[in-house]
Amino acid sequence: HTIQVQLNEPRATIRPTMWGVFFEDINLAADGGLYAELVKNRSFEFNVPLMGWKEQKKGSTGGSLLVINRGKEKENNPRFLRVKNAVTGNYGLSNEGFRGMGVEKNKYYDFSVIARSVKDAKIKMRIELVNAKGEVIGSTSVEPSGAAWKKYKAALLSNGTDQKAQLNIWFEGKGEVDLDMVSLFPRDTWKNRPGGLRADLVQLLADLKPGFVRFPGGCIVEGRDLANRYQWKKTVGNVEDRELIINRWNTEFANRSAPDYFQSFGLGFYEYFLLSEDIGATPLPILNCGMACQFNTSEVVPADQLDPYIQDALDLIEFANGPVSTKWGKLRAAMGHPSPFNLKMIGVGNEQWGPQYVERYTVFAKAIKQKYPSIQLVNSTGPYSDGELFNFLNDTLRKMNADILDEHYYKPPEWFLKNAARYDTYDRSGPKIFAGEYAAHSVGIPNGKTKNNWRSALAEAAFMTGLERNADIVNMASYAPLFAHVDGWQWSPDLIWFDNLQSYGTPNYYVQKMFSNNRGTTVVPIQMNNAVIAGQDSLYASACIDKPRNELIIKIANTFHQTKRISFVMNGSMDQNAKATMQVLRNDEMNAVNSFEQPTLIVPVNKDAEVKNKTLNTELPPYSFSVIRVKL
Ligand code: AHR
Repeated sequence: HTIQVQLNEPRATIRPTMWGVFFEDINLAADGGLYAELVKNRSFEFNVPLMGWKEQKKGSTGGSLLVINRGKEKENNPRFLRVKNAVTGNYGLSNEGFRGMGVEKNKYYDFSVIARSVKDAKIKMRIELVNAKGEVIGSTSVEPSGAAWKKYKAALLSNGTDQKAQLNIWFEGKGEVDLDMVSLFPRDTWKNRPGGLRADLVQLLADLKPGFVRFPGGCIVEGRDLANRYQWKKTVGNVEDRELIINRWNTEFANRSAPDYFQSFGLGFYEYFLLSEDIGATPLPILNCGMACQFNTSEVVPADQLDPYIQDALDLIEFANGPVSTKWGKLRAAMGHPSPFNLKMIGVGNEQWGPQYVERYTVFAKAIKQKYPSIQLVNSTGPYSDGELFNFLNDTLRKMNADILDEHYYKPPEWFLKNAARYDTYDRSGPKIFAGEYAAHSVGIPNGKTKNNWRSALAEAAFMTGLERNADIVNMASYAPLFAHVDGWQWSPDLIWFDNLQSYGTPNYYVQKMFSNNRGTTVVPIQMNNAVIAGQDSLYASACIDKPRNELIIKIANTFHQTKRISFVMNGSMDQNAKATMQVLRNDEMNAVNSFEQPTLIVPVNKDAEVKNKTLNTELPPYSFSVIRVKL
């Protein structure tokens, strides 16, 4: 085959935001995942106050527990634990962590507790890290004193590695002690921030060099009902004052005796903004628009009572961008970030649909645009991008001159291949497109059998060449969901899998990485037989120029079971015999997956590439996705 590339015919500008990530707290992505806290139910606020905790007894103890509820005195974190102890060292508590605690040999762990002693009791708390065999692999102690609540801290050095460790607390001395916010963090967090994020997981995100981070969801923005919607104001300020709620995805763990998937909001909006900044991405928060998740309930707020919801949106812009003299800008500064976060976009609603959404969006848009005309608004166009729901919203929002339409598609791999030219004929005059959630699902949506296999990743790569070719209207795209804990997930496939210690990128991750790390700035035509390459002879391709590096970037998927010999002919000004590099992602087995055993089974591999007389001859292996860079 001969493929022609036109170097000097710019077709569209690719924005820095083109390839991003979508974070949602699903599959233990936040608590038990990105948020590095190891203690589950640290403030005893789960529905079952001692969920995650167990009493420990050796011989006679005389020990007991009481959960005390302060009610209005401390509304956001009302419960604490009163521990009565009688015999030194025989009574204690253990915490199981999030499907265990991951600890590593020769690493430090920071324990802390907010505590007070009752009636001057002298009780020492002996803190132990215990491995799955029950052996102590690290210990330390704290001794609360005085009647006032204070934070006590102590460090532990682990002398073993285990991903199913637990924390024990033994009480020495007689009397009573009150405990709240019992916490254990690895010291080695991302950027070594105390109480921070898991470094390996953030690193995987940073390596993608994402253009944006969409947060915090997803359905959790909406909540199963409005009482359990995501409210950003409850996720900022001191962690002990952040009111936790049950996670909308908890019921998927229906086989558990009681809910154990909550949002502690230790990873809250401030942390999301900081994370975005750390990895060079534009923040894209999504806010509730006065509607609960329509897959569950049809609970909505009357359109004339949306004020608190709209105020949340306006205040969020002030929190992110406002001067420190403003109420919310001041809080941002107090939390450690006086300079603005440079928020430019907000999503109004997640997967909402019907006239109810239009009615509510209209009120939101008017208020936000009036106060902050330069903030771009992202709209939902309903789920799965087809059918009546989608068409109604698509038509209506286009007529309303919406800024950005957020399309979602969880579809079989074949759909992605068939739709590689989806945007070639889209209306150019209307709103921009954000492919805000997509993933190729081989079996059903979602379910346990759908794996991140090479078939799904290759189909996504083919489809993404179509997104890139249409970068004039498709301005942003993100795979979903992002993370899944191998022992606690509800939805599959997911981009990155992890356990309590390790993590790996799926083949789909490497597809995202190859696009994002080779973003380019300007789309140029790439054609075979004078037509775009969107399925012709099982090939899918796009091309762009990276202006700062003065390079041509070709992306091409071969979805055929045989090798294709290709001559890329470059037309335009360049060196006759320019330098080129090539990266190939491939596997002969379409069901192949990466795993903890073989995390790098499917990763990009370098291949020699040579340009002679402005032509690059190469072979595309069967079932492969390649990125070629040519120095112009
Ligand atoms: O990505 C998982 C879910 O899929 C999201 O929460 C929701 O927006 C969509 O239905």
